[in-house]
Amino acid sequence: MAKLILNEEDEVELEDGAQLKDPCEEAGVPFACTEGVCGTCVIEVKEGKENLSEMTQEELDFLGDSDEERLACQCKIKQGVVKIDY
Ligand code: FES
Repeated sequence: MAKLILNEEDEVELEDGAQLKDPCEEAGVPFACTEGVCGTCVIEVKEGKENLSEMTQEELDFLGDSDEERLACQCKIKQGVVKIDY
């Protein structure tokens, strides 16, 4: 099991390999295109970025080589704990 912690307050248990979109949406992260194009769903990864899937081409196009930002509609949690702020 993996764990997503949002804004230091909400904790969600997820299957390894789960998409971040649904738990983020439930916690209040705004989404629009859900295809990595608009940037509405930008999140800041505070801890555990190594536990997220590789950046997609859409994320690289939108965020460049960002070390902390990800697009929540594009990433999956591989394992372990990931802390994000939004
Ligand atoms: S919702 Fe548009 S980039 Fe994620």
